[in-house]
This record gives sequence, structure tokens and C-alpha cells, in this order.
Amino acid sequence: MYIDFDTEIDREGTNSIKWEFHNHGGVPGQHWDRASRRHGADRTLAMWVADMDFRCPEPVIAAMRDRVEHGIFGYSNKTDSYFEAVAAWFARRQGWPVQKEWIVTTPGVVPTLNVVVRGFTQPGDKVIVQRPVYYPFFRVAKNNGAEIVSNGLIYENGDYRMDLEDLERKAADPKAKLFILCSPHNPIGKVWGAEELRAVAEVCARHGVLVVADEIHGDLLFPDVRFTAFATLGSVAADNTIVCTAPSKTFNLAGLHTSNVIIPNQAIRERFQTALATSSMPGMNPFGIVATEAAYREGEPWLNSVMQYVAGNARRMTEFFAAELPKLKVVQPEGTYLLWFDCTALGLDKDQLESLMLDKAKIYFDEGYIFGDEGIGFERINIACPRSILDEALSRMRDAIRSL
Ligand SMILES: Cc1ncc(COP(=O)(O)O)c(C=O)c1O
Repeated sequence: MYIDFDTEIDREGTNSIKWEFHNHGGVPGQHWDRASRRHGADRTLAMWVADMDFRCPEPVIAAMRDRVEHGIFGYSNKTDSYFEAVAAWFARRQGWPVQKEWIVTTPGVVPTLNVVVRGFTQPGDKVIVQRPVYYPFFRVAKNNGAEIVSNGLIYENGDYRMDLEDLERKAADPKAKLFILCSPHNPIGKVWGAEELRAVAEVCARHGVLVVADEIHGDLLFPDVRFTAFATLGSVAADNTIVCTAPSKTFNLAGLHTSNVIIPNQAIRERFQTALATSSMPGMNPFGIVATEAAYREGEPWLNSVMQYVAGNARRMTEFFAAELPKLKVVQPEGTYLLWFDCTALGLDKDQLESLMLDKAKIYFDEGYIFGDEGIGFERINIACPRSILDEALSRMRDAIRSL
């Protein structure tokens, strides 16, 4: 299916966090500056927060347009048809026969993680993560008095792997209560295989550590890559997990605040629902409901096309680095539309690297260090953009680095 992802769409004037605001210190929601980024020859290119610069699937826009035309936007809830669409998606795309009763809706994955930490830990308990990793994981633990422990990923020959022996030791600590799995892993773009996920499931079950599987990027796969949904790995995994999913990354609907949390184990689900009920979290908004259902029913051709385009962007960047910036290395992605690249060979400290990219090249990335100290010397770029924007960013990086 041909869809035009090449045309640049000006997002100025849409309240876009990515293009119109600047966030200091990696703490979304705080320290916001209003920044007009698009105007003038030296506009700063926004390649940080994870949303795409593409229109979402046309059937989604049509469903929302119909809903707008009704003109009344009161409190809203889901019907059976919604749950059927969600369950059918996971069965079809991920080979995971989700039952409708397992699905709990929330306004987002990060709010969900916050509720999980509140509901399943006591202050002083430990939450295990695998740095470098999506930085709001640190915040949800801290917000609730839990301590973050990192089972750091091992970086070798340009690739990452899990340190399962270290995980075994950390999970054995009686204070360790939760393990937040990021699968596929943001920022490194790794799609974990069945073998390592099964090992994680066994270690965590053995030590009574609940696995929170953040699978928000689970549909964003490079061509020929297979995703293993954690809960498909048998009862050891399925009975000890809370799986966070959302149509927001998959179909570019992040502003609609819609997430489906899937919990096969009834006791864990009820405990989560109790914690959710005491959090005063709002229910779903009317647009999120219709958009999610339309996306899961009719968005598949768009998703396949967008990931082909993103894979083309990843190839472009890898080839550009090899030809023009051989000191920089892309960690080859298998999933997500976020590329993690290694700038350590430039020999800059984290402030110098940030200033090089932001002040000199005028590109706003997510700096590697915000994902944990393991990310120092790396950058995360969002490549879900027209190729012309990527090309402009690559030229700017080349010119800035050559001027060093
Ligand atoms: C791994 C991961 N989890 C959660 C989120 C955010 O989810 P939400 O907007 O539903 O809170 C993101 C967004 O980039 C993410 O990368």
C-alpha cells in the first residue's frame, strides 16, 4: 500500500510538545520552554520525544471525524466491540489469544506504571530496570518511595544483551518486588527473543518478582523481525505479569491517552484494578475509544507501510555514518522508530556532546545520559520523519562534527 510519508507536515500551531516546546532535564511536564522551532533557516530539528511526523491512518481520522460531527463529548466508556477489536489485534499480529476480560484500559502506560508501583510495592522496596532504559521508569519508582536497581545491559561489539546472572542476584533480594521489562527495548531498539524472555520469566517467578512488561513498541518491527509477547511464553510468564500495550506509538495517537493493560492472572488483575480505582485516574476520552478501535481494525496496512519507511530511514543513516561520519555507529535496530547511536569515539563529555548537537547542529535529540549513566556518549534519534528531515539532520551533524 503506497502512503506518502515524504511530504513534510508543518506541526507549528498544533501545541506539539515535540516541535513547539523544549524540555530541560528529561523530566516531561516540568521545565517547559515555549520554543518556536520551525521558522527561519536554522530551525531546530525536533527528533526527540516518541511521536511520528506522519498523519495517522486515514480510517482512524475518518472515525474521529464522525465522532466530532456528533458534537457532544461527554464521559465515555467502551463497548464489547472495542474489546473485540483489541483482542483480535493481539491474536492476529502477535499470536497471543488475549481474552477480553484480561484487558483494563488506562490513560497511558506511564500512569499505569505509576499505579503498579503504588499498588505492588511498599516504600523502600526495589524495582529492577535494565539501563540504559526509558527514563520515566526511574520517576515512577521514585514517586512512590521505591528504589531503582539497574540490571544493566551489556554492550559489546555494537550490540546489547541481558546480564541474566546479575538479574538472578538482584531478583533474589527480598526487597525486589517488580521488574520493568522494556520489550522492545527503548532506547536501543532491541526486540528480545523467546530464550532471554523465558529466562527472565523463570528468574522473576522463582524470586516472587512481578514482571511488568512494557510492550508499547511491540508492533513497531523492522521487516522480518518477529516479536515475542511475554505472556505467550507459558504459564510461568503469563501468571506473573502485567503487560502494558497501547495504540499510541503503533498508530501515532499518543495525544489521545489510551492504553490497554493486559493481565491474564485474575488475582493480579484485581489488585491492579483496586490500585487504579484509588488513583482517580480519568476514564477514556471519546476520541481515544473510536480511534483505538478503528486503528486495530483497519490500521494494519498503514503500519506495515510506515515500518518499511522507517527501515529505509535507518538504512540511510547507517550508510551515511559509514561514508561520512565513521566515528559514529548506529546500534542496529530491530524494532521501534528510535535509533540509538554511539558517539563515544568523539571523546566529548556529556555536556559537550549535548551542546554540539543542540547548539551547533541545531538538532534536539534525547541525550543518552537521561537513560542512565550507561547512556553517556550516546544519542537517541527519532527517525519517524520524512527522509528530507533526516537528511538535513545528517548533514548538520556532519558539518558540526567536522568543525570540532
Ligand atoms: C517504553 C515506553 N513506555 C511508555 C511510553 C509512554 O507511554 P504513554 O504515553 O502511554 O504514557 C513510551 C513513550 O515513548 C515508551 O517509549
